[in-house]
Amino acid sequence: MSGIIYVVGIGPGDRDHMTFKACEVLKKVDVIIGYGTYIELIEDLIEGKEIINSGMTKEIERARQSVKIALEGKEVAVISSGDPGVYGMAGIVLELAQDLVPVEIIPGVTAATAVAAALGAPLMHDFAVISLSDLLTPWHKIMTRLEAASLGDMVIVLYNPKSRGRIKNIETAREIILWHRDPQTPVGLVRNAKRGDEEVVITTLKDMLSHQIDMLTTVIVGNSETSIEKGKIITPRGYQKKQNYSKAQEV
Ligand SMILES: C[S@@+](CC[C@H](N)C(=O)[O-])C[C@H]1O[C@@H](n2cnc3c(N)ncnc32)[C@H](O)[C@@H]1O
Repeated sequence: MSGIIYVVGIGPGDRDHMTFKACEVLKKVDVIIGYGTYIELIEDLIEGKEIINSGMTKEIERARQSVKIALEGKEVAVISSGDPGVYGMAGIVLELAQDLVPVEIIPGVTAATAVAAALGAPLMHDFAVISLSDLLTPWHKIMTRLEAASLGDMVIVLYNPKSRGRIKNIETAREIILWHRDPQTPVGLVRNAKRGDEEVVITTLKDMLSHQIDMLTTVIVGNSETSIEKGKIITPRGYQKKQNYSKAQEV
């Protein structure tokens, strides 16, 4: 009899932001497969289990291993940071498992929403999520998506904004967004959201590059109506226009 593969989103970092279901699954499986940094985040939950700790960019290998282990009759969890269906392990595991073994995807809090919460309420209206990693996606396609999202006045969430070997993409992305957006547009940069060392910066499109941005950062660029109110970024949902609400009458 075959086992099962759980693809588990462990959330952005700390235990408070991991779902109850994710904890439950991690406690019950026989084997855990994941990238070293994420294994470290859940170390206390998985004591005594068989752990397969693999490097970054070894996604196909991890997915293959999980299928092999499930075919041996074991229950295995493949872990992803945030949500496994957002630039995570869910897709490749489903592609390789086909109908050989059952797969269950356990959702998690993705960086976009964890980061939005740290900044205020920037995602109150339509938003686009774009990864600036051109490892698996051609750069021309990423540029087209950046322009379409800025033309459509969408709030833009940028994952994978910069790495040691990829420093130019965030600069080009900013330039493209500036074709259609004011330089004073609010921008939030959050590094290590919901981990012990969370760093939050609220800035503008004009100034964003003078702050630290790396692979542990997610960037949120507001739309034309986004503002900064008492140190928080807020994109209005539109209640003011619809219900004749004014701030003077707020309570
Ligand atoms: C390969 S993607 C993985 C996304 C993940 N599956 C999710 O749903 O959040 C990696 C990118 O996610 C973002 N990210 C993940 N965790 C984060 C955190 N705790 N704080 C800020 N950004 C984070 C960063 O932009 C990072 O470069």
